[in-house]
Amino acid sequence: MSNNNEQSGKCPMSWHGAKMDFSAAMSYGDYLGLDQILSAQHPRSPNHNEMLFIIQHQTSELWIKLMLHELHAVRNQLRLGDLPPAFKMLSRVARIMDQLVHAWDVLATMTPSEYSAIRPYLGASSGFQSHQYRELEFLLGNKNAALLSVHESHADIHQKLSDTLQTPSIYDEAIMLMARSGFAIDQERLERDWTQPVAANASVKAAWLKVYQAPEQHWDLYELAEKLVDMETAFRIWRFRHVTTVERIIGYKTGTGGTAGVSYLRKMLDVVLFAELFDLRTDL
Ligand code: HEM
Repeated sequence: MSNNNEQSGKCPMSWHGAKMDFSAAMSYGDYLGLDQILSAQHPRSPNHNEMLFIIQHQTSELWIKLMLHELHAVRNQLRLGDLPPAFKMLSRVARIMDQLVHAWDVLATMTPSEYSAIRPYLGASSGFQSHQYRELEFLLGNKNAALLSVHESHADIHQKLSDTLQTPSIYDEAIMLMARSGFAIDQERLERDWTQPVAANASVKAAWLKVYQAPEQHWDLYELAEKLVDMETAFRIWRFRHVTTVERIIGYKTGTGGTAGVSYLRKMLDVVLFAELFDLRTDL
């Protein structure tokens, strides 16, 4: 039954016990900074579908932000040799990736005609310039110093990316942990130039092979390896869905960022982050 306030059309003082007056208290929107987030969509074209394009990118960036938050913490845990919290965070990252994989279904509702109406308004902007994505790649070990220059006009971002480029990746830390646990790892793999792409190493493969041949003796490293493989698998599917969605929407046109488009993204499907973890499977 409605109360007198509702009948009179005035704002009710409470609703099922919920607090209604936020003139002096922090509300949901205050806590989440919704004013900023929800006022950050600025379509540049008159086209209805641009809102989808913007929100799809913005939400992806938010999820990437969370993945970075988790993965920086994972790297610390690996340094400390305290793996259980890292396992939980790695699982979370893999699930975030899965979710981003499914998000491509939403973007795929955009047709080539709809995208063509927006494209002239995008200028040279492209996900290629996503500094968070590049940090994610560097943190996972896909190092490429040449890509830093895109960010030269933003000193703080450039510095942060440069730091991540020069710091051992999560996979490097996992290998150092194996060395500390008594596995024989080549010295040049443990003291390499961290800014360079990593080449598969026989001593690393041999160490992981030992782990997989006797999981019960090395359960922590075994679980770590499987979590890494899980995460890389989800990442590979994300890359695949990106290129297939792009092909569906823009065909073989060049990208707004200046690359050849689909053929560039197809090359990125060859990236292998944790090479030895995949190689060893042939030998088991
Ligand atoms: C209609 C939608 C999209 C199209 C047509 C598209 C197209 C492209 C193209 C052609 C490239 C290659 C670089 C270039 O020349 O621009 C690229 C790169 C990239 N895009 Fe997209 N993309 C779309 C949506 C997204 C979304 C939703 C994200 C999510 C964040 C994203 C993230 C990226 C990233 C991170 C790269 C760099 C990949 C790398 O260098 O390995 N893209 N995109």
